[in-house]
Amino acid sequence: MPPPPAPLLNPSLLAGDHANLAASARIVDELRLPWLHCDIMDGHFVPNLSFGPETLAALRRAGSKLFFDTHLMLSEPHHYIEPFAKAGANLISIHIEPDYDHAATLARIRALGCQCGIVLNPGTPARAVERFLPLVDLVLVMTVQPGFGGQSFRRDMLPKISQLRDWRTARELNFRLEVDGGIDVATAAECRTAGADTFVAGTSFFKAPDKSAFVAAFAKL
Ligand code: DX5
Ligand code: ZN
Repeated sequence: MPPPPAPLLNPSLLAGDHANLAASARIVDELRLPWLHCDIMDGHFVPNLSFGPETLAALRRAGSKLFFDTHLMLSEPHHYIEPFAKAGANLISIHIEPDYDHAATLARIRALGCQCGIVLNPGTPARAVERFLPLVDLVLVMTVQPGFGGQSFRRDMLPKISQLRDWRTARELNFRLEVDGGIDVATAAECRTAGADTFVAGTSFFKAPDKSAFVAAFAKL
């Protein structure tokens, strides 16, 4: 049985400077953090818009070598896998809630050379993704209702995280267990105890006055 993954701080570009996202990505790179969380919104599955594949492609052209953890908050994600894979996504996560062929979409993500993930909204129980656990590299438990940065962490998601961690152990699976929404050092510590290993942080990361200290605190989780 492999040990659980080391804690990974994963800054969310949504909270970066939208007039200069390449500079925001460089901040992450200069701190030697390997991942960047890219939130993609369609104004339909969630009541907001963010950016699209061209933004990822532009970050690549600007020299970013970060691992693009791409969170698709889309009603029809299956129509957008190729553009994001071509634009430079390394991992593409899709939500379980909309009605489309999830297994085929996960397989398509892999066939295009990316890792794949499945995402649950706060109102969605762990059992909704149970059958996909052997197929994914990452399970993302939303700890806020998706759509906006800067919301408050939903502590009632902790049992769901533990349930997924326990299934991972019992079935000898090795997907990453990611949390997203309202994550700071304190809430990440609670999620770490519950079993999470990958911590999306938007507002708390980009607003941190001492980012090196912030990164060091996450490394100790
Ligand atoms: C919410 C997004 C999050 C967001 C998190 O819809 O999926 O990734 O950027 O932002 P904070 O960390 O500010 O809650
Ligand atoms: Zn996200």
